Amino acid sequence: MISTAITFLSLSQTFATMKYFKTVEPFESISLDRLRKRKSEKWSTYSRGVLPAFVAEMDFDLALPIRAALVEAVELGDAGYSSSTEVPASFASSVRNRFDWSTDESAVFAVPDVMAGVAEAIQLLTPPGASIVINPPVYPPFFDVIAHEGRTVLEVPLQAHDRMWSVNLDTLEGAFADGARAYLLCNPHNPVGRVWSERELHDIVSLASRYGVPIISDEIYAPLTMPGLSFIPVCKITEDQPCIALWSASKAFNISGLKCAAMIASAQVREALRARLRARPDEIESRIGHLGVIATIAAFRNGAAWLDDLRVYLDGNRHLLADLLRDQIPAARYSLPEATYLAWIDCSELPLKGAPARQFLERGLVALEAGHKFGRLSSNWVRLNFGTSRVLLREIVQRMAAALA
Ligand SMILES: Cc1ncc(COP(=O)(O)O)c(C=O)c1O
Repeated sequence: MISTAITFLSLSQTFATMKYFKTVEPFESISLDRLRKRKSEKWSTYSRGVLPAFVAEMDFDLALPIRAALVEAVELGDAGYSSSTEVPASFASSVRNRFDWSTDESAVFAVPDVMAGVAEAIQLLTPPGASIVINPPVYPPFFDVIAHEGRTVLEVPLQAHDRMWSVNLDTLEGAFADGARAYLLCNPHNPVGRVWSERELHDIVSLASRYGVPIISDEIYAPLTMPGLSFIPVCKITEDQPCIALWSASKAFNISGLKCAAMIASAQVREALRARLRARPDEIESRIGHLGVIATIAAFRNGAAWLDDLRVYLDGNRHLLADLLRDQIPAARYSLPEATYLAWIDCSELPLKGAPARQFLERGLVALEAGHKFGRLSSNWVRLNFGTSRVLLREIVQRMAAALA
């Protein structure tokens, strides 16, 4: 199946990958000793002997424009409250250049992080107790944020045909007809890695329009769409519909701990969102990280070249992972993701004595994300983070194989 997926790759993608297998700096030269000095969640959760490949943090050094901006801020002692007034313009120009998406700056609102933005969107667009559709397997906090905001999760599980994941439009329509009050879409999708096509998005948008269901679209992984593929921002194709998209430079540039994201609102809900954010007693602006704003603006304005090199490197990694699994764990099933640095791996046919992630951790000393967190039907799956060097990616798979021996 993996080789089938590779066969379908466009020629340009294949050439890009071949080319980049030769040009691997600066992503290849990361050192495990240096990584182990990091204090972030990825490098502090497990003991030294465990190789972490679970939480969505990358192992690469920061892009130089971000590093320079942060160093300058530290040297200036510039660590006060944030002022995010430049975020909308830098965001708008970045998405215009990269995705041909013309957003009105007045439609862009800075928030501390994507999930805070999702919570605001849920509060704005739905009444208490409303049902909100999500597509499991999906980023686990989607379940939590809906419950936390006092709404109900309505699951429309993704379907897989020939290892290609898609949204079942009949089930989606059923959920809308049953009274869903919003659709929390993940595009590109974590963990399955789909970038929803223009056709798929048009189908979704027209259903949502027919039933008057607002769309909340988490597009945090859009900048990590693989070379040769196109990402379409959903708000670009919704016309007279309420739609809120959530963006951040945090995944693509590995600055999640710095806290800055953006909400983009369609014309129908823009003023209501502005009023809501202004009226918040706990001033959402003051929770945005000042260094996050600085790093985000540097990423949006000056990060494009580094990001393009990164995407080519990750493209190589997703293929390398396919080769490594085929050679060392042939019963593992994995389809190439179209975006992200996350691999969603079916372990149902592996010789396991319990939950896959637990066995990999206990017997192989490699930490992967456990599938059950992403939905009820995913307990035989794991999510592997390949946002690391190829040396460490080989080590991850070797440890997985050792755990099965
Ligand atoms: C799909 C998705 N949305 C949101 C987030 C979290 O973003 P933030 O830290 O900005 O809330 C993640 C983190 O991995 C994610 O995968």
